[in-house]
Amino acid sequence: MLIGKKPDIASSEITPKSLWLDRRRFIAGAAALGAGLAIPRGGANAAPLKAMKSPLSTQGEELTPFKDVTGYNNFYEFGPDKGDPAAYAGAMKTRPWTVEISGEVMKPMTLGIEDILKLATIEERIYRHRCVEAWSMVVPWNGFPLSALIKRAEPTSKAKFVEFTSLADRETMPGLAYSYLDWPYREGLRMDEAMHPLTILAVGLYGETLLNQNGAPLRLVVPWKYGFKGAKSIVRIRFVSEQPATAWNTANPREYGFYSNVNPEVDHPRWTQAKERRIGDFFRRPTLMFNGYGDEVASLYKGMDLKVFF
Ligand code: MTE
Repeated sequence: MLIGKKPDIASSEITPKSLWLDRRRFIAGAAALGAGLAIPRGGANAAPLKAMKSPLSTQGEELTPFKDVTGYNNFYEFGPDKGDPAAYAGAMKTRPWTVEISGEVMKPMTLGIEDILKLATIEERIYRHRCVEAWSMVVPWNGFPLSALIKRAEPTSKAKFVEFTSLADRETMPGLAYSYLDWPYREGLRMDEAMHPLTILAVGLYGETLLNQNGAPLRLVVPWKYGFKGAKSIVRIRFVSEQPATAWNTANPREYGFYSNVNPEVDHPRWTQAKERRIGDFFRRPTLMFNGYGDEVASLYKGMDLKVFF
């Protein structure tokens, strides 16, 4: 530290730090624009995505900040803590990436992720995202209806359910060393749930390709169900005639049912589902039946006792 002699610079020549920082940001932005690039919020692992705004987006909800959507995650293949996916999922290789579409279909196929991206127009779908652990977010997903992919495969009349399987790679996923779940992670939907217009395969969020911690390069999003139905980093979509086994239901059938519809009236055996904490809020808010998507989906479950089929 220099003490004593004043620096020989007029105060008017000294740039305030805030301006200097802004200028640096401006220069970085201009350089990226010059190179034809926009700077993704997700850094080098993300790329900008073009997405059409969808009329099926949830209106009037404040978006959960990008840093929380990408920093507070469940992805047990990388560990059980909320920070583990952001810390460790960077090692997962998402290119090349193929998805096997098999089972009860006329056209079984294996598609590269690039082909999948060309399948349908990418939309922005703002959805409430409610975890079984009673926290929630609002996420601007980028994706396309799962039905677009299903129609291509031409399911046979025997296809009653769809099973989703996630990547299980021991080299890059430290959580696979633990047996809290039966790997690979699997999820399932009934055919009508899978074909529902609200059900999407997401490839991005906030206008950028998914970061690995959110399930890159392709993950399921079913907004009226608890978040765990949204299998991440999918490598296989299989059409089956019987209700498939799912990772959480197999691990603990008393606590996690197959349907897993958001339902404030059916408590988890260890905590209430009547309320939830929106990430960033202090007070808890009431949980909505079907996560607020009842008008669109309640008819799928007409006549079913949702306390039995939870
Ligand atoms: N998919 C895989 N493969 N592995 C997982 O552990 N966790 C699920 C679901 N998909 C999980 C998964 C759970 S419990 C939740 S709540 C959501 O992913 C969380 O998605 P997010 O981290 O993008 O918010």
